[in-house]
Amino acid sequence: MAKKTIQDVPVAGKTVLMRVDFNVPLDDQKRVTDDRRVRMALPSIRSVIDRGGRVILMSHLGRPKDAPDPKYSMKPAADKLAELLGKPVLFANDVIGDDARSKAATLAAGDVLVLENLRFYPGEKKGDAAFAQALAGMADIYCNDAFGTCHRKDASMVAVPQAMGGKPKVVGFLVEKEIQYLSEAIANPKRPFVAILGGAKVSDKINVIKNLLAICDQVLIGGAMAYTFALARGGQIGNSLVEKDKLDLAKELIAAGGAKLVLPLDDHCGDSFAPDCNKKTTPAGQVPDGYQGLDIGPQTAALYAKLIKDAQTVVWNGPMGVFEMPPFDAGTKAVAQAIADSGATSIIGGGDSAAAIELLGFADQVSHVSTGGGASLEMLEGKKFAAVELLDDK
Ligand code: 3PG
Ligand code: MG
Repeated sequence: MAKKTIQDVPVAGKTVLMRVDFNVPLDDQKRVTDDRRVRMALPSIRSVIDRGGRVILMSHLGRPKDAPDPKYSMKPAADKLAELLGKPVLFANDVIGDDARSKAATLAAGDVLVLENLRFYPGEKKGDAAFAQALAGMADIYCNDAFGTCHRKDASMVAVPQAMGGKPKVVGFLVEKEIQYLSEAIANPKRPFVAILGGAKVSDKINVIKNLLAICDQVLIGGAMAYTFALARGGQIGNSLVEKDKLDLAKELIAAGGAKLVLPLDDHCGDSFAPDCNKKTTPAGQVPDGYQGLDIGPQTAALYAKLIKDAQTVVWNGPMGVFEMPPFDAGTKAVAQAIADSGATSIIGGGDSAAAIELLGFADQVSHVSTGGGASLEMLEGKKFAAVELLDDK
């Protein structure tokens, strides 16, 4: 059933405790280098302040070890939010301590307060009830707009909404949109429905491949995991990355997938992992000794582009090659270009594929780029999230 959204609850004069995923990359000057997760949370935040509500935002950043560590402070993300909102944002240098509680208690209509990193407290990862109660006690409404963290059972995701008791618990617009694309569009796809899966390891993608083989018309494989499939078919892979302990699994997927599972026709190889290495294009499964596969080859790129152009729904997760190192970005570029050119509903998984589509400049030409890495993969596996299930239904 669809979940109530922040729009469905009256917020004037109320305090909304909103879990966001401001786990953003920082440079060594502690500047946010990719603000997409912050930008994508703006509609929910604005919805509350524009209607006269107060917002307390909570998030984690990185993986600090259960204690305050300035390296992982939320302050740079709070500053980025202030810049994007175009108004000052309050910051508390703790989460459930004096600073947070006193600032939360004096918020006025339209104010936004960002709490320090949730993971500075052991209670966050442990799902501790007292920690959750202290957070829940600060607000009248709970909102989950942290899609990237929805696969986690951390306190702020599960124990806090549970501790809200009968108070409203809703999703934000970002979580609503992510679920629409990563779950609903996939459950009722316009066909042909084509998935493109890349990345280094078959083991990361087994459940996604299995789930998508059951619902897609075709699953196109690229990235280093293609070499595990090539070896499983008895091919030669030279020095390519491979998971030797996953050969049986690859054979199983090949048998189960039949004609639906499309493997590369050719590989673009190099004699070392460097842009200026000697290069060769070889038929799949014929990587010469001393070479490693670093991208899908041009015939594969052309085939995948054609299949994508004929599709009505496209899901892409994982690059086709070493896209950070031209010319081994060609396969990933061809796939990104074909997705951008197609009229299909196009859904790009988070993590590396989101980074690739941004880097290549096609992010505005697709239907949806997910803000979740692990979360988008789990959603493509068909999993349900406890953090979403427990929220109020429409
Ligand atoms: C992510 O970027 O994967 C999310 O913010 C969740 O972070 P985590 O993997 O450290 O739980
Ligand atoms: Mg992660």
